[in-house]
Amino acid sequence: MQNLGIAITGSGSAVPATFLDNQSLTELVETSDDWITTRTGIRQRRLASSTETLSELATAASRQAIAAAGINPEDLDLILLATSTPDDLFGTACQIQAQLGATKAVAFDLTAACSGFVFGLVTAAQYIRTGVYQNVLLIGADILSRWVDWQDRRTCVLFGDGAGAVVMQANEKDCLLGFELRSDGTQNNCLNLAYTPEPKELTQGVNVGKGNFQPITMNGKEVYRFAVQKVPEVIDKALFRANLSIDQIDWLLLHQANQRILDAVAQRLNIPEQKVISNLANYGNTSAASIPLALDEAVRQDKIKPGDIIATSGFGAGLTWGAAIFQWGR
Ligand code: ACO
Repeated sequence: MQNLGIAITGSGSAVPATFLDNQSLTELVETSDDWITTRTGIRQRRLASSTETLSELATAASRQAIAAAGINPEDLDLILLATSTPDDLFGTACQIQAQLGATKAVAFDLTAACSGFVFGLVTAAQYIRTGVYQNVLLIGADILSRWVDWQDRRTCVLFGDGAGAVVMQANEKDCLLGFELRSDGTQNNCLNLAYTPEPKELTQGVNVGKGNFQPITMNGKEVYRFAVQKVPEVIDKALFRANLSIDQIDWLLLHQANQRILDAVAQRLNIPEQKVISNLANYGNTSAASIPLALDEAVRQDKIKPGDIIATSGFGAGLTWGAAIFQWGR
């Protein structure tokens, strides 16, 4: 009998050593510790130096996750890297595969901004449920500091860098209990890290675009409204598919964008504060890394225990959003 369920059996995380607190940001833009703390809950963020790479952070997080799962890199069948900030636009997952020595694994990147980890979780589960792969490494990692406009106070105070990873394995019991993924490209202009082409004439009449990616732009109010409305909806839908009610959830693990979003979503769903996992005060919004980073911390702090039911939700650029209900461990 084949194991066609999935279990999340190990986690890991890594952040750059350098941190920048709110007070230090006042040297860059007109802001204050008080504004940032009360509007976002963020107190400091970790920032990768110019010599630190995404693949290094992701590999460090992955090594921990692989060790926690009790397997070896050679056991991996698939490596999925959720990121919007690859070291190489052709993809960074293969560099991680090489650094890990995961010789058997196929590796590729997946981009869904701050929803990347949840989208990756569901994608990885499909490969396992169909019996194709047994051991999958899913990484969420981003270095948004490379793409933030450090003169724009509306965005630069929000983001930080980091990586988190989990190992997902074939299991008799299916611990992914329900999910719901959504996209709405009509609101794409709310949050962008867009390529802007400059025309370059190669020969007469033949033009190509040779441009650059522009720093992050965001309509904060719209994204806030979107998150507070849509996240409870997808969590409800995922719970319905899992045949569970709100009170059966042990932990609410949202993309760590803003404490006010976490509070508002928890309130709408009637989830008590002590079930809400939050570490954004220390890291800011680390995009695809935020959920596995917070998950790993909670597991290592012995908050999340085997058998606990977690409702997770990612939301962000695209616009994309999604929720997954899973049980931790086998
Ligand atoms: N310091 C001081 N003042 C500021 C700052 C700052 N860093 N940023 C903005 N302000 C000012 C504004 O200019 C504005 O002043 P004005 O009234 O004179 O025009 C005032 O503060 C209020 O600005 P708002 O934008 O209305 O502030 P708001 O309460 O909406 O908070 C925030 C802004 C924190 C960005 C909020 O909208 C938010 O969190 N949005 C969601 C962002 C998010 O979660 N993104 C997640 C997805 S990320 C991804 O996918 C990559």
